[in-house]
Amino acid sequence: MKVKGRITEVKGTVVKASNVSGVQMNEMVKVGETGLIGEVVRVEGDSAYVQVYEFTTGLKPGEPVEGLGSPLSVTLAPGIVGNIYDGLQRPLSTIEGYTISRGYTAEAIDVNKSWHFVPVVKPGIKVQGGEKIGYVEETELIRHYIMIPPNVIGNLTYVAPEGDYKVTDQIAEVQGSEKQSISMLQRWSVRVPRPIKRRLVASEPLITGQRVIDAFFPLAKGGSAAVPGGFGTGKTVLLHQMASWANSRIVVYVGCGERGNEMVELLKTFPKLNDPISGKPIMQKSIMIANTSNMPVAAREASVYVGLTLAEYYRDMGYDSLMLADSTSRWAEALREISGRLEEIPAEEGYPSYLASRIASFYERAGYVETLSGDFGSVSIIGAVSPPGGDFTEPVTTHTLRYVKAFWLLDPNLAYSRHYPAVNWISSYSSYVESLSDWWSLNISDEFETLRRRALDILFKEESLRNIVRLLGPEVLPEDEKLLLEAANMLREGFLKQSAYHEVDRYTPPLVQYYLLKLIISFYEKAKEKLTGGATVEEIKASPLYLEVIRARFNVKSKENFEAIMKKVMEF
Ligand SMILES: Nc1ncnc2c1ncn2[C@@H]1O[C@H](COP(=O)(O)OP(=O)(O)OP(=O)(O)O)[C@@H](O)[C@H]1O
Ligand SMILES: [Mg+2]
Repeated sequence: MKVKGRITEVKGTVVKASNVSGVQMNEMVKVGETGLIGEVVRVEGDSAYVQVYEFTTGLKPGEPVEGLGSPLSVTLAPGIVGNIYDGLQRPLSTIEGYTISRGYTAEAIDVNKSWHFVPVVKPGIKVQGGEKIGYVEETELIRHYIMIPPNVIGNLTYVAPEGDYKVTDQIAEVQGSEKQSISMLQRWSVRVPRPIKRRLVASEPLITGQRVIDAFFPLAKGGSAAVPGGFGTGKTVLLHQMASWANSRIVVYVGCGERGNEMVELLKTFPKLNDPISGKPIMQKSIMIANTSNMPVAAREASVYVGLTLAEYYRDMGYDSLMLADSTSRWAEALREISGRLEEIPAEEGYPSYLASRIASFYERAGYVETLSGDFGSVSIIGAVSPPGGDFTEPVTTHTLRYVKAFWLLDPNLAYSRHYPAVNWISSYSSYVESLSDWWSLNISDEFETLRRRALDILFKEESLRNIVRLLGPEVLPEDEKLLLEAANMLREGFLKQSAYHEVDRYTPPLVQYYLLKLIISFYEKAKEKLTGGATVEEIKASPLYLEVIRARFNVKSKENFEAIMKKVMEF
């Protein structure tokens, strides 16, 4: 039954309604004459507080409030991929011309479009939630499996023959305790994680093509990571890089409270980029959600859950999904604003006391899982964090760092000196290193882990020598330590730095990452021998090979390229 009441108070994005007994927590409601979309966030007797997802200007007490009887949900059906949505999954044709009229409820997908459905099961079997009954080719990259919705169980009494169907047409029927008609369209509440069979230990890397990440601080498929960084340190560029090159099957990019022109930038560059593995346009595996700074604040809070639910839906088909959120700090600010309007008792820096648990449950939706249909799929989550003043001790950053399993700290000093990505290699961290090392030794080289350790060891030693150098200058160091500083410099210039704009450098496949480390470490070993043989560090640096090894990141694309330089190193 739909509940109808009246607005009694408007407090910015939050509205109080009376006479609404029977509305549920998290129920969707229509607010005011124009039917703005909102969600019940607190129920008090026969009154309720509603978080309104649109601009509330002009809304007045006395206007109607109507419960819609269902929680805030997303539409799940073929036709999602390649779209750009607002924070409530309403399609945006362009963001520049963002003109959704208030109260507008468009279908998330084109319900008039026909899809060629191919059944993969025959009637007469028992089915339950998650089971794949057929598929459509959603894009060239995504075979979209049509699954029995979670919570449905029974005998499959009908499956449509191969043919063209609209998403709302019946394509199957299940006889359980009652008869249920199944179409290609399901709905799912965004605040409830989609069910899975079980969680598994993640043991495959999410390859991002970003060397400092893949080689030193890797993320597993199904892992969670954060990118904390002060103003202008390169968070957005790094997330765009991940969205462009990561080897996930699906990318969900949530632009949350950031500048609209950055989303426009993404939309302009994406159609020109091809997936490094399939060679197909990456738009064919991407879903964008834009809730930029000029859009209503409360929808920002919802947008990350909309994104997560879409990522989970494709995971359920047995795919690896990657969800990127820029920036989770703006999301937390939306939480703070709504909490303030609800007059909740504030905790640290005005954030609600449930900030930590919200952050935790957000990242907990990442995981490598066995799906209900017995496939393996994953949701990986990467969130940018933008602490005010670059202060990593503020609440959103500290709580995030507690819950993610990898973090790449962006360092303003590196960014100022144009060392990009400005990931600090001393203080960044990944708990996935160990579980992924087998993958590297089996697929790339059993020498990889040793090279990685050698490289990090050189960088850590450089760090400890820095103070001496700062105080007394490099001249006081013995030659072998001077050489170590050079090796560290080669690692910084030839490996850690990576331009997002150079055609070769912007994406480095894992094998090439190994080649580059091998070249640098081998050169260092050779140089040490030369040093013992009487050469000076100055002489070694003056060799053209020194520069060639550093510049290999722009040139090495194949085994042949690598072997040619390696030969010179061995003869050095
Ligand atoms: N990998 C990179 N390669 C080359 N340039 C980069 C790279 N990363 C960042 N930059 C430079 O740094 C600038 C700022 O980066 P970006 O917009 O990503 O920072 P941000 O941390 O998202 O900033 P904000 O705090 O404003 O959101 C970019 O415009 C670009 O010039
Ligand atoms: Mg940014």
